[in-house]
Amino acid sequence: MLEIFYKRRSTRKFLDKKIEDEKIKKLLTAALLAPSSKGNRPWEFIVVDDPALLEKLATSKPHGASLLKHAPLAIIIAGDKTKSDVWVEDCSIASVFIQLESEALGLGSCWVQINRRYYNDEVTSNEYIHEYFNIPERLEVLSIVGIGYKAAERPPVSACDVQWDKVSLNCYKNQTSFVVPDDCH
Ligand SMILES: Cc1cc2nc3c(=O)[nH]c(=O)nc-3n(C[C@H](O)[C@H](O)[C@H](O)COP(=O)(O)O)c2cc1C
Repeated sequence: MLEIFYKRRSTRKFLDKKIEDEKIKKLLTAALLAPSSKGNRPWEFIVVDDPALLEKLATSKPHGASLLKHAPLAIIIAGDKTKSDVWVEDCSIASVFIQLESEALGLGSCWVQINRRYYNDEVTSNEYIHEYFNIPERLEVLSIVGIGYKAAERPPVSACDVQWDKVSLNCYKNQTSFVVPDDCH
């Protein structure tokens, strides 16, 4: 598992290669197995592989969504606000499960933030996506995960970059025995 965590880096450039249905099914299985508060499972997922719709998603906000234009696949993650007051948390976990399963399958992925983002001065990114995908009012889009075969491999995170100073033992800022390895300095 940790090896996958080290290797997973956001991928924003993809090969022009279709993802096999079997792999797409595994990505969705991972999402549907995600934990949720009270087991409410308020999430729903829209799989998008139509290039015209991917292009629409790529313009759902002015910055940070353009990678979707050339992704072969995107998964819209939406939460039912009438089912859970913590749909944001539940949808976040499902989004990350999709990202980790992507890495495990040799695919790259990137989270595109939609919740609290704007298409323009008047329209939220959520409203914009609702219109194109016929999404009911009760669902709010949290994120879109863009997925595909990586155009280039990014170096994994180094063990030297793990920020052990963020960890305390028993009391805030009490040091633990976990430190950055000596050969990092
Ligand atoms: C909540 C959240 C929102 C993000 N939103 C975007 C986004 O809208 N567009 C984008 O290109 N990347 C987005 N990212 C990816 C981050 O930029 C990326 O995870 C971060 O820079 C660390 O890089 P890494 O994923 O390679 O470790 C988001 C990540 C998270 C967790």
